[in-house]
Amino acid sequence: MKFTKPETTNPIDQMKVVGKPLDRIDGPQKTTGSAPYAYEQHAAAPNAAYGYVIGAAIAKGRIVSIDTAAARRAPGVIAVVTYENAGKLGKGNFNTAHLLAGPEVQHYHQAVGVVVAETFEQARAASSLVKVEYAKANGSYDLAAAMNAAVTPKTGDAESKVGDFDGAFAGAPVKLDATYTTPDQSHAMMEPHASIASWDGDKVTVWTSNQMIDWGKQDLAKTLGIPAGNVRLVSPYIGGGFGGKLFLRSEAVLAALGARAAKRPVKVALQRALMINNTTHRPATIQRIRIGATREGRINAIAHESWSGDLPGGGPETAVQQTRFLYAGGHRLTRLQLATLDLPEGNAMRAPGEAPGMMALEVAMDEMAEKLKMDPVTFRVVNDTTVDPEKPGRKFSQRRYVQCLRQGAERFGWDKRQAKPGQVREGQWLVGMGMASAFRNNMNLKSAARVRLESDGKVTVETDMTDIGTGSYTIIAQTAAEMLGLPVERINVRLGDSDYPVSAGSGGQWGANSATAGVYAACVKLREQIAQKAGLDAAKAEFLDGAVRAGGRSVPLTEVAKGGAIVAEDTMEYGDLEKKMQQSTFGAHFVEVAVDVATAEVRVRRMLSVCAAGRILNPKSARSQVIGAMTMGVGGALMEHLAVDKRHGFFVNHDLASYEVPVHADIPHQEVIFIDETDPTTSPMKAKGIGELGLCGVGAAVANAIYNATGVRVRDYPVTLDKML
Ligand code: MOS
Repeated sequence: MKFTKPETTNPIDQMKVVGKPLDRIDGPQKTTGSAPYAYEQHAAAPNAAYGYVIGAAIAKGRIVSIDTAAARRAPGVIAVVTYENAGKLGKGNFNTAHLLAGPEVQHYHQAVGVVVAETFEQARAASSLVKVEYAKANGSYDLAAAMNAAVTPKTGDAESKVGDFDGAFAGAPVKLDATYTTPDQSHAMMEPHASIASWDGDKVTVWTSNQMIDWGKQDLAKTLGIPAGNVRLVSPYIGGGFGGKLFLRSEAVLAALGARAAKRPVKVALQRALMINNTTHRPATIQRIRIGATREGRINAIAHESWSGDLPGGGPETAVQQTRFLYAGGHRLTRLQLATLDLPEGNAMRAPGEAPGMMALEVAMDEMAEKLKMDPVTFRVVNDTTVDPEKPGRKFSQRRYVQCLRQGAERFGWDKRQAKPGQVREGQWLVGMGMASAFRNNMNLKSAARVRLESDGKVTVETDMTDIGTGSYTIIAQTAAEMLGLPVERINVRLGDSDYPVSAGSGGQWGANSATAGVYAACVKLREQIAQKAGLDAAKAEFLDGAVRAGGRSVPLTEVAKGGAIVAEDTMEYGDLEKKMQQSTFGAHFVEVAVDVATAEVRVRRMLSVCAAGRILNPKSARSQVIGAMTMGVGGALMEHLAVDKRHGFFVNHDLASYEVPVHADIPHQEVIFIDETDPTTSPMKAKGIGELGLCGVGAAVANAIYNATGVRVRDYPVTLDKML
């Protein structure tokens, strides 16, 4: 099915099941520990041996020699795989660095090999006997030092210019020129990268933890140099991804290589100590923002430049993205600058681009509002735009941004905020309020599904879509239930298997709308087949209360299916609707903090997010996405920071003890409001992404609240107390 024009009405609009705050159907399995995660697929691969990954001890250089003799003799050891005996490996489409080093080493903790043994402890003990000799080369590890040599990458959209920024900025009566920094950050998900690989002849099955099944399957085939048809990936449950599991990672390749060498299934969970330097991270940025406005507060000139670094062949963090869409202003400039760094590979982490970009832009907007003596909410409302500011005439499909700002301000009690900072004191605490916009683009990806009306009247949905803790199982069941007029209890959803039709996968907040749209397409086909079989006019058929009816006749689906299951498969594909109209998601974040007068300890007291993101398919799982994102935003504002060892080129705090994220005690009352909205241009579901929107801007709202409380403006994240004293 091709989606080419805005959808008017369809069965989803009944909203009998879609739009209801259903509990997650996989919830009981997850909370009772009975949902098998990748490393726990004991039944699928009994007799699996254990792999232990060896990470490179240098950031850049060469492996001179590897001596595995002692390790091979150690108790329980079955195989040791390094580049010397792995065979020729290809490189997939999505990784910048090779997933197995040798002889070249491209980053610290890049996998050098895997030791396979009968037990985990034996593999770990033997790995310490592997002697690797390195020839170290000099690398570049410091973004601030490398930024002068940065270049504008040739990605086509690394730079945008409208009008004459320099001239307009020079002549602006009120202006700001400020630089902000965001640190390297880690996904730090609970479940590490984990895989069990099992070969059957020249075919391999990998039970893994991956957000994008088809990307992973294709890349594993390319890496191993085997046909994609010989690779099966299975990933029904995922313990968090945040972008870290968008791509094939080393543990899956090493499990496959280890299993081939050991001639039996091998399981590998990337050790927590390797999780940060072996994998990808959100790259640090240095962002310069210049804004020029009239005395009345109209932006006339706005420039946003962002510097980030990556390994040779890598890409930039697209932190200027939102600045192209969010505010009006005739003279504009955005530019990405990419430096070469030999740190581990930078890549997507939840809302790549907008997440760090909004941390800078929305503090700049707060600073500018203060210079203008304007309320920060009013300043944003004044600079709203109804068209894409870089492409006049091109409209937003929906833009309920001002509504988010106004509703949020009212609900939060924003009118009680003191404009002058440092005015409100409660005992030892200075109290302040801050706000920021939320913005994230919406993307739709092609997505397929198969639906089957079983002979017992139940329906099975199969798609390789993943559920990374987001609620995919539930919204897919709701979609099929709505389309077929059945209660959700009669829908059985099967996800995360490359044997199923290729879905959009979970990334870039495109998963919910795209994957359910694919299920919609398959259900449209199934409805036609069911109606035909029931001898009814398919064009007039309605599906309600477990029956199909048309022309005064009603046939229960159990009756229709009696003769045998009915199967339909389809793909939702997109025309150029997205290109004609800008699809984005909008919101506003409000935060109240208290800062200890003596120690500068920050306590977040209240948070509110208002989101406009199309139809909300399930308000409960959507709210969970947003409160999770708000929590992550507090981490980004106050804690998260990969500390770079600039001499040796690695992230020092490479575990969950020293990479700090918020815990329950750090998180206060959180409230989420969804603006009532449907977007008929996104898909028949009329939904958009929400999981990343909820993060974008939170950090700035916290930083702005800290400024309002204390009068101290910190432009370098995280806002730790040492920067305030
Ligand atoms: Mo997201 S960073 O595309 O999983």
